[in-house]
Amino acid sequence: MIDLTPDQDTLDPIELASRDEITSVQTRRLGWTLRHAYDNVPHYRRGFDEAGVHPDDFVRLDDLRKFPFTTKSDLRDNYPFGMFAVPRSKLARIHASSGTTGKPTVVGYTANDIETWARLGARSIRAAGGRPGDMVHVAYGYGLFTGGLGAHYGAEKLGCSVIPMSGGQTEKQVQLITDFAPDIIMVTPSYMLAILDEFRRAGIDPRGSSLKLGIFGAEPWTNAMRTEIEAAFDMHAVDIYGLSEVMGPGVAQECVETKDGLHIWEDHFFPEVIDPATGAVLPDGSEGELVFTSLSKEAMPVIRYRTRDLTRLLPGTARTMRRMTKITGRSDDMMIVRGVNVFPTQIEEQILRIPNLAAHYQIVLTREGRMDAMAVRVEIRLGVTPADATEDAAHLAYQIKQLVGVTAVIELVAPGGLDRSMGKAIRVLDRR
Ligand code: DLL
Repeated sequence: MIDLTPDQDTLDPIELASRDEITSVQTRRLGWTLRHAYDNVPHYRRGFDEAGVHPDDFVRLDDLRKFPFTTKSDLRDNYPFGMFAVPRSKLARIHASSGTTGKPTVVGYTANDIETWARLGARSIRAAGGRPGDMVHVAYGYGLFTGGLGAHYGAEKLGCSVIPMSGGQTEKQVQLITDFAPDIIMVTPSYMLAILDEFRRAGIDPRGSSLKLGIFGAEPWTNAMRTEIEAAFDMHAVDIYGLSEVMGPGVAQECVETKDGLHIWEDHFFPEVIDPATGAVLPDGSEGELVFTSLSKEAMPVIRYRTRDLTRLLPGTARTMRRMTKITGRSDDMMIVRGVNVFPTQIEEQILRIPNLAAHYQIVLTREGRMDAMAVRVEIRLGVTPADATEDAAHLAYQIKQLVGVTAVIELVAPGGLDRSMGKAIRVLDRR
């Protein structure tokens, strides 16, 4: 793979600022955000008053702990526009995330917010190894989902040429990648695997494609999956994180030169990691639920928003801003199987250690009598027969038992036998 490390002099100065400078920007912007939320959003005013806190009580970053959390249900209760801090006429755009149940979560942006998002998108793509003049194929979905438009504006801001392909039409994805020769693809990692299948089906060598970089996010994926995709396409694979409530893609980004977790763009988002059960703020390095406070958002400031994503905060490496480790999973994705907590990513890691098994899998939970049962459906690789893989299935069951701590029945599936996602993969079918 070619070296894509960006020139240091192309970075935004704040990316290399001292911790003191970052703290000072955060403190100033947090003070503004708390005041803006209190003055303009009745939900926050009520919440702060009930908790007996006022924006004036905020002096140092630690003071943020006095302020109440915000949850997804607060956003739902204020559906559609109750969390907005500006009049409707100041909104430049609306996005929404499709809740699995009930009403979508609606988010809004002013023109300045869209500009900040584009800049952070550009910063993210540059950290990933992109540069002006690159051609970027965007296969995140366009529409109310923030993935497509978020990636699109970021790539344009960096000075790239964008192919706004969106998700789906997998044959056409491969045709355009082959014909237009983009340098970069932005897509969910699970849909990248569907694109990979289509390359092979069409008899095109993926390693011969023009792609040198993939910027993958919107769902959890493991380092084992990174190795898989990098080897299949001979390209770099890096992680991009974000969520609609906080902005969209580009809240945090992995740097191509280190690939060691995602740098949080701390000049715009203040992260905390809390114990999800007690709400206590944990010291950096401990695993817990990620919480964000926006620092510059006008239309929809968020104060201590509980993401439900589980991670750890680590010091900066390639940048001075802190990193978060790859997301283990959402607290909602955590399966409790006979009392053991299991994340799909733990199963993915074990599958990808076995050469005859492919990265396409699904976990099915059922109840047998009063006991939970877990089945892992996993595809065998092209060219491998089910007979060849019998021992691999037994080995996978053994590894899952030893290393994850649960009993799983392994069902081998022929190549292409599992549904492919066009966006975020559905890894768990809970039929209990
Ligand atoms: O998924 C924004 C996005 C689009 C991020 C494209 C990256 C690329 P939502 O639909 O609101 O927004 O979903 C946000 O997706 O809370 C995480 O649970 C999950 N997620 C996003 N990025 C990652 C990632 C977009 N890199 C939710 N790793 C978040 C793991 C991720 N999970």
